Formats: sequence, structure tokens, C-alpha cells
Amino acid sequence: MTQIVIDKVRHMYRPARGRPVLALEDVSLEVGEQEFIALLGPSGCGKSTLLYLMGGFLPVESGSITVNGKLVTGPGPDRGVVFQHFALFPWKTVLQNVLYGLERQNMAREQREERARKFIELVGLRGFEDNYPSQLSGGMKQRAAIARTLAIDPQVLLMDEPFGALDAQTRALMQSELLGIWRASPKTVIFVTHDVQEAVYLAGRVVVMSARPGRVKTIVDTNFDKTAPDILRSRQFNDKVDEIWGLVKEEAIKAQMGRGP
Ligand SMILES: Nc1ncnc2c1ncn2[C@@H]1O[C@H](COP(=O)(O)OP(=O)(O)O)[C@@H](O)[C@H]1O
Ligand SMILES: [Mg+2]
Repeated sequence: MTQIVIDKVRHMYRPARGRPVLALEDVSLEVGEQEFIALLGPSGCGKSTLLYLMGGFLPVESGSITVNGKLVTGPGPDRGVVFQHFALFPWKTVLQNVLYGLERQNMAREQREERARKFIELVGLRGFEDNYPSQLSGGMKQRAAIARTLAIDPQVLLMDEPFGALDAQTRALMQSELLGIWRASPKTVIFVTHDVQEAVYLAGRVVVMSARPGRVKTIVDTNFDKTAPDILRSRQFNDKVDEIWGLVKEEAIKAQMGRGP
């Protein structure tokens, strides 16, 4: 079942000072229910812009985006977001941060707390419920942010380079945990990254975007079994990474040249 339809979306930024920037041009994409999609492309190609449009944080001025047949006109509880820069309230504990997301839901106080604790445990933060963000590592903060978003149980999860600021080891751990969470409770995920390995490992389809203005250059099927313990070293995995890396490199070079001297 198709859940998200992006139809001929174009987006122009018109800064108060300076020239307008055409960020996206004629982007069309359909995403199925419970699909895990990665958006990949060189820096500045409009990945974040597309995610903000899907999230309803930027107005869709040209073309349309629908989720479950409804036009996106603003943020909504059907779409949860996780961004690279952890948006935790520094004055709230981990538990309070996760509870905050549940406050607008029609749930009894004990029920909310039970749910918050369940998701804190799911992301491996049991024992840190009463810690403040300043008392957590970067990886732990990101887990807390993910718990807060997952607890709301959005049908669609929009993630913008959520592991981009983490060290390699923590990132690998978070990737396999995210896959575990997704397998246990499937939802539609749009995951923005510029890391080809990460895209191939996580997603069932990888959408490669062109240099600015961003368009869909190619969609590569990466839906093979990734549960084998040494999958990252397998031939199949690395052939996919090489194939996609070649496509992204072309665009990265174009983006470099477009920037000029
Ligand atoms: N608020 C803004 N005003 C003007 N230009 C912007 C604004 N936000 C992003 N851009 C430009 O739009 C293009 C796409 O940005 P973005 O979606 O952040 O790309 P990505 O996430 O792929 O790196 C870039 O050239 C960026 O400089
Ligand atoms: Mg971005």
C-alpha cells in the first residue's frame, strides 16, 4: 500500500537578502506503508528541505505531498521527526523529555509514564531516566530523542542524519538498534544520510538525489537479507555500496563544479 505520494515538488528559498535558491525541482516519489527508504545525495542537494516539506515544517508551494491520502499542510502526530541536533529540553530529565511528547495524547498519567519507560528501555537507556541531557553522551542524547519520537508511535518516521554527529562505533550500534526497533514495530521510515554504507544497511530502497536543484536521480533496490552477522563484509553488500557510491560521486563532483571558484 502506498502511504506517501510526493508529486512534482519544487522548492525555492527566497532569503530576505541575497538571491533565491532553487533547492528542489520536480521531485516525485512514492513510499509504501512500512517501507524503509534512505535519501542520499551530496551536501546541499535538498535532502533536508524534502524532509521538512514532508514534516510540514515548510509550506509545499509547488506540487503536492500526501500522507495516507491527506495533503500535508503542517506538522501532525502521524509524522515523527528525529533530527541530527538533539532537540531535548536541557531542563528536563530523560523521562520528562519522553513524557513531554506524550502530553498531548489522550492518556492517563500512569499510562503515559509506563509507555515512556518502555521506550526508554527499548533504546537502552534504562537506569538513566532521571538524568539530564547534560549528563548524557551524544549517543545517549540521540537515543533519548529517538525514544521520545517513537513513544508517540507515528506512522511515519522522518530522520535527518540522526547519527551524523556520533562516533563510528556508537553509530554502528545505533544503526543495528534502529533496524531492530523497526523490525519489531514496523513503520514507514524516511532516513536522510550522506553515508552510503548506512543507506544500504538500513534501507530497502535508496533514493539517490542529484546535485542542486535536487531531483530523484535513481532509486536503487537494496532489499536483501541483512541479518547475517558478517553482512557488512559480504560481496552482495559491497557491490551495492560500490554501485551507489558511483552514482553519488557523479553528483558530488557536479555539486563541487557548480559551486565555482
Ligand atoms: N533557509 C534557507 N534560505 C536559503 N537557502 C537555503 C535555506 N535552507 C537551505 N538552503 C539552501 O538550499 C539548498 C538545499 O539545502 P538542504 O535541503 O539543507 O540540503 P541537504 O540537506 O541535502 O544538505 C542548499 O543549497 C542550501 O544552501
Ligand atoms: Mg541536510
